[in-house]
Amino acid sequence: MIQYKLIGPITQLVSMDNLPFKGAIRNDELSSIENAGIVIEGEYIYAIGIYSELKEFIVNLGAEIIELSSEHVCLPGFIDAHTHICFAGSRANDYAMRNEGSSYLEIAKAGGGIWDTVTQTRKATQQELSHCIMKRANLLLKNGITTVEVKSGYGLSIDEELKMLRAIKEANLNLESDLIPTCLAAHMLPKDYTGTHEMYLNEITSSLFPMLKMENLTNRIDAFVEQSAFSAKSIYPYFYKAKEMGFDITVHADQFTAGGSEVAVKIGAVSADHLEASTDNEIKKIAESNTISVALPGASIGLGHSFTPARKILDAGGSLAIASDWNPGSAPMGDLLSQASILGTFEKLSNAEIFAGITYRAAAALMLKDRGVLAPKMLADFCLFPTNHYNEILYHQGKLTPSQVWKRGDLIYAE
Ligand code: NIG
Ligand code: FE
Repeated sequence: MIQYKLIGPITQLVSMDNLPFKGAIRNDELSSIENAGIVIEGEYIYAIGIYSELKEFIVNLGAEIIELSSEHVCLPGFIDAHTHICFAGSRANDYAMRNEGSSYLEIAKAGGGIWDTVTQTRKATQQELSHCIMKRANLLLKNGITTVEVKSGYGLSIDEELKMLRAIKEANLNLESDLIPTCLAAHMLPKDYTGTHEMYLNEITSSLFPMLKMENLTNRIDAFVEQSAFSAKSIYPYFYKAKEMGFDITVHADQFTAGGSEVAVKIGAVSADHLEASTDNEIKKIAESNTISVALPGASIGLGHSFTPARKILDAGGSLAIASDWNPGSAPMGDLLSQASILGTFEKLSNAEIFAGITYRAAAALMLKDRGVLAPKMLADFCLFPTNHYNEILYHQGKLTPSQVWKRGDLIYAE
């Protein structure tokens, strides 16, 4: 028998429903329900509305009533659409060297950079990695993040990439939040590989891609398109092959130099992430396309770089998600809410645009149609903040955290 639950009264419920998928959003477009309630049917939302009306309505359903006695603001569970939380070790030394003024090359020469994390991650077992992921995903959960994308990319060989993706799968089975895995075998040319970039990519497409399908490890392929990683020219055949096999494409694009976003648009990628180096030309093309831009303020804060031109992307009509990029190198903070609100202050984003970037627009960046807004038939993933207005949440820049997090109809975290 399906169990119904009614939760409320909720001081203010922000459903994020009926907002535009692309372009700028004004704060006055963000509607909310005061003294609201949510009726849950199993894992899904059955109804939302005024609490007192819902209470009458649910009498016949025999719903369990969960009464809230203090003020709360309810939002959809947040979605972090770009992370690298499957890693071992630390790169605190890189961070210290970079802040002291060392160049990328000097850090790499001192044994730092992505390759350092590859070395440390290769030493870890699948189970150790899965524990690392679970620890980090549970920290995110306390900030209201109920869905987390997780990339491989610190294995960089067939076996090591498989180990990472199996660790993500294992963690997902043991977590309350949902992990969305992505294969980033094209993160850099592994230093122990003796062939060319093209040979490495060929090996991945012919040997790893079929395994990903067979073991159902991911349906998403990512690549770091950058001078120091893979050129636009070398990556086209890789992405075409991935598309042919039915994978969705996402791209690390225009982080240091422009080029990747054009690849993303041409290939019909679901998202182009980073874009710190995008100029007006790239912004126009991406905004006109169906590819979602993903801003990663955590990488700008971690590297001391400029932010993704989020304002320009939105004003040009693009869709913008915001993600943490949590990784041991460029984005060690791993705090989506703080970073999204800081991006808002620098890029002059409305609170509506910020919330959209971590809810329904982030869901679209992961091709997830069952979450990101609070509406009937959507997953009952939501968070309750101990405050009376949604503006308070971003105003506190990540320091106001949820007192309750609900996932698939269950209370999974309470402060
Ligand atoms: O998204 N840009 C490439 N990859 C990561 C950084 C990975 C690392 O430094 O370990 C990023 O910023
Ligand atoms: Fe990244």
